[in-house]
Amino acid sequence: MHGLSARIGRLAAVALLMAAPGALAAEATAIHQRLLTLDSHLDTPMSFGRPGWNMMADHTYADDLSQVDYPRMVRGGQRRSNFGETSEAMFLTSGFVYEEAAQAEAAFKNQNDRYIYSRFSNPTVEMFAERLRLAEGAEACRTTATGMAAVFASMACQVRTGDRVVASRALFGSCLFVLTEILPRWGVETIIVDGTDMAQWKAAFAKPTRTVFIETPSNPGLEIIDIRAVSDLAHKAGANVIIDNVFASPVLQRPLELGADIVVYSATKHIDGQGRTLGGAILGSAKFCSELLQPFLRHTGPALSPFNAWVLLKGLETLELRMAQHCRNAQTVAEFLTRQKGLTKVLYPGLASHPQHALAKQQMSDFGNIIAFELDGGKSRAFRFLDALKLVDISNNLGDSKSLVTHPATTTHQRLTPEERAKLGIGDGMVRLSVGLEHVDDIKDDIVQALAAA
Ligand SMILES: Cc1ncc(COP(=O)(O)O)c(C=O)c1O
Repeated sequence: MHGLSARIGRLAAVALLMAAPGALAAEATAIHQRLLTLDSHLDTPMSFGRPGWNMMADHTYADDLSQVDYPRMVRGGQRRSNFGETSEAMFLTSGFVYEEAAQAEAAFKNQNDRYIYSRFSNPTVEMFAERLRLAEGAEACRTTATGMAAVFASMACQVRTGDRVVASRALFGSCLFVLTEILPRWGVETIIVDGTDMAQWKAAFAKPTRTVFIETPSNPGLEIIDIRAVSDLAHKAGANVIIDNVFASPVLQRPLELGADIVVYSATKHIDGQGRTLGGAILGSAKFCSELLQPFLRHTGPALSPFNAWVLLKGLETLELRMAQHCRNAQTVAEFLTRQKGLTKVLYPGLASHPQHALAKQQMSDFGNIIAFELDGGKSRAFRFLDALKLVDISNNLGDSKSLVTHPATTTHQRLTPEERAKLGIGDGMVRLSVGLEHVDDIKDDIVQALAAA
């Protein structure tokens, strides 16, 4: 705005100088002089009344700390402005201004490196993406408003009519909906397999395949799928492999190092970890992100808000610490649950009794904070248990610092038929517990009293 008014004023003063003699000319010279001073002020790039504040529209920062080898999740991706803030700046802006029209033209032709519009990119959003990219060890990262937007975009940006997609059957309900309801409407064939059965993967890859979608550990049955083995097979069929890494987080499982190509997150879960915001992310090769994903995101618009990006950026700073405590609490609670009466099953990848415990040990550094267990007495007993909990909240979210419990058969997986749920091991008595960061004794005490009351 300053640049524009200065330019208009300068033109007016020059016109006055040329047209008017005598006193008027003197006044015009004075105006011109003031405007020249304003111009030089603008040239120093300083627009907010404090020396050194750089407009940053061209991605220049006082201090680009993003490549410094600091602990990645605490400082990775940080760019510090000339104000020297400790916490990253939040750029709550939808758009960015141009000094002149030609800059806007060049920006839209991709001829200069600058921010255009927050649907495309935003400095705070980029800081979050860069921090997550460094944590994941990926070449590139793009972010979305929710985890589902990330899941959908990771597939929709690359499939076309006639393509085949292969997915494991143990998936979060909405992921299954995208695969079985939305993609087939566009002529994409979806093959759903039992992800723990390598023979089914082999059979599915008998024909050329575009992409593979896997959730491991899965929601809520905690199935573990062999990322390396499936990726090897998928690559031979020409497919890339997408891992929904929500339950593990970048701290516990690194799918790209295991041979996968793309990782997606609901950042709503552990990355925020405190139940505040929704968010999503997709990580993969620079080529995939710039050639397929970025145009899809830019033109369909599931952009992450800068405010939410800032919250998630702060979430990453404590993610490693929180995951370590989540895992310690969950292991203790899972072992404790195995000793309780009235439970027919306790599923936690960290228990030796888990069907894929050995695989979990191989591809995860720890086992996460989600436990699924089955109460005898079906839905009515499960509901009585949930209702009797005093500390643990009933909520379908997970990965929060507060312990949360849900009944998958009537919430996250209610769309499936009882037969489909049975195949996934989701019985009417199954409860999913997201173990929080409360003192573990308080969680155990709450479970004991609720089991007694149920
Ligand atoms: C495994 C998994 N993937 C994706 C999602 C979707 O994330 P969001 O709720 O942020 O859209 C969820 C949400 O529960 C999930 O559990």
